[in-house]
Amino acid sequence: MDIMELLYGRRTYRRFAQKKVPENTLHNILEAARISSSAANKQSLRYIIVQKPEEVASVCDLVKWAAYLPAEVGTPKENERPTLFIAVLQPANGSVTDHTDAGIALSNMTLAAWADGVGSCIMGAINRPKLTELFGLPEDYAIHSMVAFGYPVHKSSVVPVKNGDIKYYLDENKDYLVPKRAMEDIVWNIR
Ligand SMILES: Cc1cc2nc3c(=O)[nH]c(=O)nc-3n(C[C@H](O)[C@H](O)[C@H](O)COP(=O)(O)O)c2cc1C
Repeated sequence: MDIMELLYGRRTYRRFAQKKVPENTLHNILEAARISSSAANKQSLRYIIVQKPEEVASVCDLVKWAAYLPAEVGTPKENERPTLFIAVLQPANGSVTDHTDAGIALSNMTLAAWADGVGSCIMGAINRPKLTELFGLPEDYAIHSMVAFGYPVHKSSVVPVKNGDIKYYLDENKDYLVPKRAMEDIVWNIR
């Protein structure tokens, strides 16, 4: 796939087929995280794989989907849930560069997944205390984010921002439309 095609398609997906993410794709996702750039090459991030259906269900109860949409359309139903979560962990006493490292790793992971047709949702609106308990994390690590993965059952497309409204919405097929600001609005001309 051409890099721009990959970047356009690598959107956020929130409804999934109940089909396991294959081992080779999971391997690629983790390898993409493993080799990602990090400040001073410290490689401080750690990952936890959640793939057993009962554990995926437990994580689903501890994350919040689609803040701009009513739950009945934004939150996956039981038969639309992701089939894989990966927790991204950072040192508990982490610095600003750990956040940058996490962003780079998240981007690499979700792109590697999409290259194999696996969609994802990066999740920051999560119940960190409960997830920390569920994973039995040591005190020196904290959860940066959860990432949901699976084969999407909906489409998602980039559309222009209209009247300054950046909220994503659904069309009549329940496909996502994601407004992105125009180039002239984000690239400043300083002269
Ligand atoms: C740091 C971060 C945290 C996010 N947290 C959530 C979340 O908790 N729940 C959710 O449904 N989506 C979450 N998202 C997905 C965003 O809503 C999504 O990226 C945004 O609407 C733009 O859509 P796009 O990824 O298709 O460009 C998060 C994305 C990022 C980058």
